[in-house]
Amino acid sequence: MIKPVRKAVLPVAGLGTRSLPATKVMPKEMLTVVDKPIVQFAVEEAQAAGIEEFIFVTSRGKNVLEDHFDYHGELYDNLRKRGKSGELAAARTAELATGTFCSVRQAEPLGLGHAIWCARMIIGQEPFAVMLPDELFLCRTPLLKQMLDAYKRLGGNLIAVREVPREMSARYGMVDTNGDDGAIASIRGLVEKPSPAESPSTLSIVGRYVLQPEVLHALDRWEAGRGGEIQLTDAVAKLVGKQPVHGMRFEGRRFDCGIKAEYVAANVAYALARDELSDDVRALVTDLLDTGEAVTPAPLAAAVGT
Ligand code: UTP
Repeated sequence: MIKPVRKAVLPVAGLGTRSLPATKVMPKEMLTVVDKPIVQFAVEEAQAAGIEEFIFVTSRGKNVLEDHFDYHGELYDNLRKRGKSGELAAARTAELATGTFCSVRQAEPLGLGHAIWCARMIIGQEPFAVMLPDELFLCRTPLLKQMLDAYKRLGGNLIAVREVPREMSARYGMVDTNGDDGAIASIRGLVEKPSPAESPSTLSIVGRYVLQPEVLHALDRWEAGRGGEIQLTDAVAKLVGKQPVHGMRFEGRRFDCGIKAEYVAANVAYALARDELSDDVRALVTDLLDTGEAVTPAPLAAAVGT
């Protein structure tokens, strides 16, 4: 019997060093795309897929993220008194019902695999989803829903994958396949950030997984992999041959908000997807591109005379 997926783990304990200075105090996952923190997109994607419980793996300084999903009586009362019903509704889109979300701490950012292992007690013996909230997927059908629909047929472990140029393999987890119908690939191996010459294919792992709880045992030994980090890719690789592991190509576009250019592109793409914003944003972006007017600001140090 294929057990349903009710829980999603969202690791948010990283340092976000590629996004500095924005992330010096503000968690990367709380940076906004248009008017929403990026982690809220992942939560909404999970809700659309029927997820009932949310587990955030957090660290020092991430309390603002938990507060974001909490009830905020003072703000709501204020908006209610002033008749700001639209604003109240907007604020409440970011609310998760009491008892449906919790957080566990990752004491040190030892890697994605370690972050997931930190949630083991709350995951228990159930299959679960892992969502890297700094990756946004603009899809007609929310990506996790696409995956859970496929999981209902396939069971086992399912990882979202997409083609990348071979020369980019060293940035991603890459998979080795032994059967591929164009949408679903049967995976016989996974390797984290291989060189282009070593990469078994051009299919890369993206930040959405459906996993069986046995993967947590593979993480028990805290074995460090590529970059000295405890890698989720290595733990899933240990399941191959014991459980089905599939890769799923998906319909939609991915934005890695940890990369500045993609974060900027995500803002434009999500604004263009909003009826009330798209005309204005299209006009502004077109004008920028047409006129080629790029104002290069003076270096800050010179401006403040240091
Ligand atoms: P990233 O590697 O993209 O995030 O991890 P990072 O480490 O915060 O960013 P950089 O590389 O320093 O810029 C993907 C997701 O996994 C979480 C991150 O918070 C992010 O949401 N993560 C990563 C953890 O929770 N713990 C870790 O040890 C590593």
